[in-house]
Amino acid sequence: MVDKLLNTGELKNILINEMKGIFGEDTRRINHALNVLSNAEAINSKENGDEITVITAAILHDIGIQEAERKHGSSAGNYQEIEGPPIARRILSNLDIPDETVEHICRIIGSHHSANDIDTIEFRVIWDSDWIVNIPDEFPDYGREKTEELIGKIMKTCSGRDRAREVLL
Ligand SMILES: [Fe+2]
Repeated sequence: MVDKLLNTGELKNILINEMKGIFGEDTRRINHALNVLSNAEAINSKENGDEITVITAAILHDIGIQEAERKHGSSAGNYQEIEGPPIARRILSNLDIPDETVEHICRIIGSHHSANDIDTIEFRVIWDSDWIVNIPDEFPDYGREKTEELIGKIMKTCSGRDRAREVLL
């Protein structure tokens, strides 16, 4: 267990492969997860959340999206929040990650659209990392000023705000 816990590079590769296996041909979603991961690593290097939790949640945060579409005919956030955690739990059950870390990761995935259930530092890092990628998609018409205002409102960490300004403005 210790070896795997310490080797975040190896864990990252395993999880990226699992995520790619599930998303298949859907390169847009694969790239989304990878972009969220690079934001999360950058933000967390300053916020100092638990690295395993942040990396894992970043890679797997949208993992329920296809199941949501299959089962509910919709990729709406609430369906993703229902379908994501069981898939993440299944992937993580094959890895030596402590139970409480798995539960934390699943709570982040189960709340990443609503922020209903959780407000840990790791959750905030994932929240900000996802929004940095989503803002240009969801608000394509926003100019610099409105984007700046949105960053101020949405982001939950100082480092997330800094990175959002760097990337988006
Ligand atoms: Fe996302």
